[in-house]
Order: sequence, then structure tokens, then C-alpha cells
Amino acid sequence: MTTLAEALATRETALAQRGFRVRPARLSDVPRMAEMINNFASQGEMLPRSASELYENIRDFLIIADENDEVAATASLHILWDDLAEIKSVAVSEALHGQGIGAYLVEKCVEEAARMELPTVFVLTHKPGFYEKLQFERADVLAFPRKVWSECIRCPKFSNCNEIAMSRPVAREFTADLPDDDDLLDPIPTRA
Ligand SMILES: CC(C)(COP(=O)(O)OP(=O)(O)OC[C@H]1O[C@@H](n2cnc3c(N)ncnc32)[C@H](O)[C@@H]1OP(=O)(O)O)[C@@H](O)C(=O)NCCC(=O)NCCS
Repeated sequence: MTTLAEALATRETALAQRGFRVRPARLSDVPRMAEMINNFASQGEMLPRSASELYENIRDFLIIADENDEVAATASLHILWDDLAEIKSVAVSEALHGQGIGAYLVEKCVEEAARMELPTVFVLTHKPGFYEKLQFERADVLAFPRKVWSECIRCPKFSNCNEIAMSRPVAREFTADLPDDDDLLDPIPTRA
């Protein structure tokens, strides 16, 4: 059986052959991230993000960078509590839609959730069909009171929110695929 790590590695190789790579977001990516997200938001496809929100949460974000190291897609994993995290701001440059990039980034967020030992991830979305392909199921947003009472309550659309809540369990067996935390760290150079 193909493990999550193997499936992601295969996808990563295919993307690399086309000059794309996944990496953590950097502060210098924020203008392009804001432009992409807010362009889709102006068409009602997702919620807008201010530059300050992006800077404050930059460590939540993964990027697909193109061969010029420019942002081609974004996604973020935002942890709310020890048992819950939200996948937010999934956006793929329009010219690259339908090539598996969005699905890959969501799976990378789920992989990170597994590494963090989170049992569940959720989304609020206008694209339920996309997330259904990724094993998310419809849920009641009230099942996530920490989201509702910390963030939704400050949203101008709180009283007439039309986003669909969906969640996905983070299978425990995924964690068996993952590298040890120590392997994620670069070795510290030793002095001669
Ligand atoms: C939604 C979005 C992220 C999808 O990214 P993508 O890279 O085009 O999607 P993928 O190619 O990875 O698609 C994966 C699967 O989902 C399906 N899919 C993609 N978008 C879909 C949609 N809007 N509705 C239903 N299914 C969809 C694809 O057909 C594919 O199915 P397959 O595995 O059977 O071939 C992208 O269209 C986008 O950036 N949209 C604008 C911003 C947005 O709406 N973001 C969602 C925020 S909630």
C-alpha cells in the first residue's frame, strides 16, 4: 500500500520536474500571497487576508514556488487547540488550476497536522467538492466552538456566513510515515 509520505514524495518529484517546489513561506512572499488570495476573495471564492494577518501568521503557510522562486500557490495550517487545526487560505495561481497542486498542498498540511499529533483538521469553504475529493466530510461549524468564539465572531459575515464547514480525521497511521523530529533539523555545524 502506498503511504502518505510515498504519495507526497511522488507528487513532489513530479512537481520538481516542472520547476515547482514546496517550501515554508517567507516575509518577502506576502505581497504576492495577498494579491493572489485577495483577487480570489474579490470574486467571492474565499475570505480576504490583510497583509498584517499574513505577516502575523506567516509560519502557518506553505508555498509552492515556481522556477523563479515566485509564489504559485499557498495554504496554511492554523492550530486552534491541542485537538484542532484549520486549513486556511488555499489558493493556486489561476493558470495552474487542475494540476493537482491544491490537493498536494492540502495533503502537506495534513502531514504537518499528523506531525503535530493533531487528531482533526477542518476547513470553512465555498468549494466542498474539492475537499470531498480529499476525504473531508461536511460538519457543523458549531462542532468547532473555539473557531466560532475566537475568529468567526470577529468576521463581518458572522451572522450570515455562507461557508461550508468540513473536517477530516488525521489518521494515526500517517504518523508512522513521518520522519523523526530530529531528522527535520539541519545538523548544527561543529567548529574545527
Ligand atoms: C480550489 C483550488 C484550491 C483547487 O486547486 P487545484 O490545484 O486547481 O485543484 P487540484 O488540481 O489539486 O484538484 C484535486 C481534485 O479536486 C477537484 N477539484 C478542484 N477544484 C474543484 C472544485 N472547485 N469543485 C470540485 N472539485 C474540484 C479536481 O477535479 C481534482 O479531482 P481528481 O483528483 O478527481 O482529478 C483552486 O481552484 C483555487 O485556488 N481556487 C480559488 C481559491 C479557492 O477557491 N480556494 C479554496 C478556498 S476555500
